[in-house]
Amino acid sequence: MRLNLVRFMMLAASATPCLARRLSAAFSPTVTRMTLRNIQSTTSDRWICRPSFAVSSARRSSSSLSAALGTPQTSFDDGKSPFEITTPIYYVNDKPHIGHAYTSIASDVIARFMRLSGRDVYFLSGTDEHGQKVEKTAAEKGLAPKDFVDEVSLSFRELLDLLNISNDYFIRTTDEDHMKAVQHFWKTLVEKDAIYLGAYEGWYSVRDECYYTETELVDGKAPTGAEVEWVAKEPSYFFKLSEYEDKLLEYYEANPGFIAPESRRNEVLGFVKQGLRDLSISRTTFKWGVPVPGDDDHVMYVWIDALANYISALGYPNMDEGSSFDKFWPGSLHVVGKDILRFHAIYWPAFLMAADLPVPKRLFAHGWWTKDGEKISKSLGNVIDPVELVEKYGVDQTRFFLMSEVTFGSDGDFSDEKMIFKVNANLANELGNLCHRTLTLVFKNCGKAVPSEIGQYTEEDEKLLATARKLRETASDAISTQAINKYVDSVVSMVWDCNKYIDMTAPWALKKTDPERMATVLYVLMEALRHVAIVYQPLIPASANKILDMLTVPEDERTFDHLETSPIKFGTPVSKPKVVFPRIDIPVTEEEAVPAK
Ligand code: MSP
Repeated sequence: MRLNLVRFMMLAASATPCLARRLSAAFSPTVTRMTLRNIQSTTSDRWICRPSFAVSSARRSSSSLSAALGTPQTSFDDGKSPFEITTPIYYVNDKPHIGHAYTSIASDVIARFMRLSGRDVYFLSGTDEHGQKVEKTAAEKGLAPKDFVDEVSLSFRELLDLLNISNDYFIRTTDEDHMKAVQHFWKTLVEKDAIYLGAYEGWYSVRDECYYTETELVDGKAPTGAEVEWVAKEPSYFFKLSEYEDKLLEYYEANPGFIAPESRRNEVLGFVKQGLRDLSISRTTFKWGVPVPGDDDHVMYVWIDALANYISALGYPNMDEGSSFDKFWPGSLHVVGKDILRFHAIYWPAFLMAADLPVPKRLFAHGWWTKDGEKISKSLGNVIDPVELVEKYGVDQTRFFLMSEVTFGSDGDFSDEKMIFKVNANLANELGNLCHRTLTLVFKNCGKAVPSEIGQYTEEDEKLLATARKLRETASDAISTQAINKYVDSVVSMVWDCNKYIDMTAPWALKKTDPERMATVLYVLMEALRHVAIVYQPLIPASANKILDMLTVPEDERTFDHLETSPIKFGTPVSKPKVVFPRIDIPVTEEEAVPAK
């Protein structure tokens, strides 16, 4: 179908305000400069001096104050310990795209869910700012690398803010504290005799920032399709990766939940079983990197610098009792794309083992998005800009679609048609209309207040409320294994049950015949919707909270423990309901737009 895009954009623009404009105002250069100063002056406690672009207190849930319910125990998580969750740190050689948005949203959903469950969460994101790729791109643009990375890193922070991502900290690998931490990490590896000086020659892909062997190349390119270049013999420090083959295999064996999904775990196992070669971890032919301690001719391989962000952000090398490192490490969950699993599942645990540090508990590798069935690439001109998506469809709509359309872990295909269909069906029609119908009846027929008297619950009322009470448990089971789409399905299915219930009980017909029954049905619906909206907060935070406002749920009664303890109070005044999810107009084709003769 050919879309009349101009009309489509106009329609969308009239439906949603221009978020990008609001964003640039929110991130004035003054704010940014202050922010950077703050980070640099932060030495001892990163908790106190958070960057100002980290989540505002208003956006954080009040769960930190709530009693700890926890999440289900799994082989990789006890369900109650402090929880460090991370996104990959993003390369700053280009502006953010859908892949960055996807990883960030998925991690945010899990982080928010954990907070609402009473877990103490540290959610980390950031930018990966060193390496040949960044140095090259800055040079092409005629900019000094630091000026270039400052600009692009800011666009990633803006994206996180736009998508309502609740990260507790945003790390940059050019932060002084981080660079010192990486140098400390390197020195520890030297002390543990895990590094030696040698010489490297071989294939390197700048785009992937990855070394490849001759046998891995496919038609002269990297297996990812990236160009490779021959690195002529140059001095290089090596990490003794070959010594970790057995240790890694033993670790995977003893911790079957370490790598997920299962198919990705098998790929990693297969790769390691083929044998590991020592890894070149420094370069002398470019300068944009962390200097190797004691040998200024070398800069560190960008992946050793990047992976260490997960601990440097926790204040490493300070590992004292009571430090953030002590509290949150080993990290609970690294969310990564399938393309960077090798670095996280092989190099990272090997580096940590060599440094005598604990290995993280869980890695989850998600799939990749294609667009209308094609690989997304600049040359095909089909890159999806997440800022445009949000402008067209809205933040929560974008979050909802990306999280519900595919099984988390599998690849997904994006199309505007699928997005419009899903958002209109599940959000505008099923949830939005249900809220509107219920609350309009309460407003009009119950004296603009939650009913103050209700009758006995019938079997069907009890059944709906029992399903609602089970919702958190079902959602929790799904989230504890990162089955985000199953979590969404559980809420979508609850909303269906509510719609069946309202159609069956027809409260609109009861005002004259049985007002008490009408009040009971509406109260049951409000209670069921309270469960839906509380459990939906991690996925569609702003919309869920709008619904909770309309349901009269106090802001400090929206955590998971309030599901059981704090039902909606009888007689509370309600205001006139507002539309939460406007229907998205389906764009017409050019042919359809031609007036009939
Ligand atoms: N800098 C490294 C990560 C270092 S972590 C210690 C990096 N950065 S990246 O910017 O290239 O990629 C970030 C994430 O975006 C990766 O998880 C990657 O899988 C994801 N995506 C990139 N393109 C994607 C799609 N088309 N679809 C989904 N995610 C994809 O790698």
